[in-house]
Amino acid sequence: MDKILVRGGRPLTGSISISGAKNATLPVLAASLLTTGRLHLSNIPHLRDVTTMVELMGQHGSAITIDEKLGVEIDNSQITNFTAPYELVSTMRASILVMGPLLARYGQTEISLPGGCAIGSRPVNMHLDGLKAMGAEIDLTAGYIRARAKRLRGARFIFDPVTVTGTENLLMAATLAQGQTILENAAREPEVVDLAQCLTAMGAKIHGAGTSTLIIDGVDELSGCHHDIISDRIEAATFMIAAVLTKGNVHLTKVNVDTLRAPIDKLVAMGAQIEEIDDRTLRIQGNGTIEAIDLETSPYPGFPTDLQAQMLVLISLAKGTGVVTETVFENRFMHVSELQRMGANIRVRGNTAIVRGSPKLVGAPVMATDLRASASLVLAGLAAEGETLISRVYHIDRGYERIEEKLRALDADIQRISG
Ligand code: UD1
Repeated sequence: MDKILVRGGRPLTGSISISGAKNATLPVLAASLLTTGRLHLSNIPHLRDVTTMVELMGQHGSAITIDEKLGVEIDNSQITNFTAPYELVSTMRASILVMGPLLARYGQTEISLPGGCAIGSRPVNMHLDGLKAMGAEIDLTAGYIRARAKRLRGARFIFDPVTVTGTENLLMAATLAQGQTILENAAREPEVVDLAQCLTAMGAKIHGAGTSTLIIDGVDELSGCHHDIISDRIEAATFMIAAVLTKGNVHLTKVNVDTLRAPIDKLVAMGAQIEEIDDRTLRIQGNGTIEAIDLETSPYPGFPTDLQAQMLVLISLAKGTGVVTETVFENRFMHVSELQRMGANIRVRGNTAIVRGSPKLVGAPVMATDLRASASLVLAGLAAEGETLISRVYHIDRGYERIEEKLRALDADIQRISG
């Protein structure tokens, strides 16, 4: 298993470009199952989760051509298998995204029930209740969700709690349902909006994308389209935090500044200097004193849970004390014990972490527990004195494209050790 070795203490300087968003790519790939027309997608990131989704779709019968320059071409004219097997779903929960499209287009699907995972129990009851409201027959046997429907019909459904992939699953299913579907308390994440834009380009009738009420008028069929995936706001903000943490000066291109308001506001409140050069370009500097702040994660447009671990590192090195409250997932402080091993002063009480800023962190061997936690350990390593050796970095490859190459381009001392 690969490890990452970081020698800390160098300010990040230079320019890098942000990749396409993982969390937009996965639903858009699944959406291609709604049509037998060809989809052409650009700005797809090279990530393990994307490979897993491509593999899953290959099992269903998708023919997917990947070209470094031209993008991804998907031909779903030969879909013959409707089962998402345990082996793939257990490595990536977002595999559940094929459920809505397969059911809506082919009237049947069998998906392994996603199991527990490192950041809480993460049920899928909203996905199932929503599809049932649209007329699907669903039963659970031998660890599989088995869903059937001759044709889904429009329905009114209220999400409780708000769920990103749940909204995406029902949105995709509703595009081919008979009649109108109204989804309330829907997720407003930019990745949901990106999916809605792709579906609209395929011929879907969707109103309200980006608001908490989505109104979808079902159509009889969808066609192929071209779609350019939105930029990854979590990757962008991770690099912004890294720049502040190392007192660096970093220029980020191909970002969508509007999707980064919550992290920009927090970083500015901490004392970072952020210049919006234009709506796709940012400069981040962190050379003054960084002050601790309180932070609460919440669904978009609130502060993303996917940046909580990285912000915990920054507050650990700030002046003062900050209280970080995780409201989206239970049990999402697994990284704290690893950060403590590097000298961070963090106390966890339920879903709250009390972080007292320390003057420094010290490098140590640490272990990545999930995707965003592993990013936080890389950030801690960049700021720490001495060497940090991070194991189980396969987690980071799920969601960050060539992270060590991008950091090296910013003058970090970081290398991957294959093993
Ligand atoms: C998506 C993102 C993930 C991000 C998360 C929250 C993708 C592929 N992944 O995950 O990176 O961290 O949003 O922003 O886009 N819940 C239920 N019942 C359900 C579904 C969810 O109770 O049927 C709960 C979950 O346990 C969690 C909360 O709702 O507490 C939010 O989860 P959700 O938005 O569904 O996360 P994902 O879509 O899995």
